[in-house]
Amino acid sequence: MEIITYREEFRQEMTELWRVCGLLVRGLNYEKEIDLKTKDQKDMIVLGIENGRVIASTMIGFDGRRGWLNYVAVHPEFRSIGIGGMILKHAEEILKNMGCPKVNLLVRKSNSGVVEFYEKEGFEINDVICMHKKL
Ligand SMILES: CC(C)(COP(=O)(O)OP(=O)(O)OC[C@H]1O[C@@H](n2cnc3c(N)ncnc32)[C@H](O)[C@@H]1OP(=O)(O)O)[C@@H](O)C(=O)NCCC(=O)NCCS
Repeated sequence: MEIITYREEFRQEMTELWRVCGLLVRGLNYEKEIDLKTKDQKDMIVLGIENGRVIASTMIGFDGRRGWLNYVAVHPEFRSIGIGGMILKHAEEILKNMGCPKVNLLVRKSNSGVVEFYEKEGFEINDVICMHKKL
């Protein structure tokens, strides 16, 4: 698998990957998110490509204090062979090179099975309350 940064030609395949991975929850305006992210941060979306096909992804953020990972996804046909771990490592390197000391991510309670995956990759559960406000 080759890891590359986002290219517009892969938009549809990437969103299809997110769909099959169950990441496109109701109410999410993912097309708008991609538009906003790719306006000046195309390099912060990484894709795993196998035989010209998008099989893995993550969208990276850095707010100056913490790094963030969204859309961590591996196509079901390619799971359990270490690709998820490879994508995380690649994203971590990008963040480290930006001077980022710590990376966070959010897991939906309904998807808590993946906590095992992140723990295997060195992530720890935080004792925090996550809050949000719609703008
Ligand atoms: C989570 C995900 C990215 C892992 O990708 P992967 O390429 O299979 O990861 P790796 O091969 O590096 O590691 C696989 C290991 O992680 C753990 N793991 C992954 N998903 C798991 C789950 N839902 N429940 C329990 N363990 C899980 C297991 O130890 C697994 O090893 P096993 O298959 O031999 O049991 C992939 O399962 C995925 O795309 N899931 C759907 C999207 C998603 O939920 N993303 C996270 C949003 S927060």
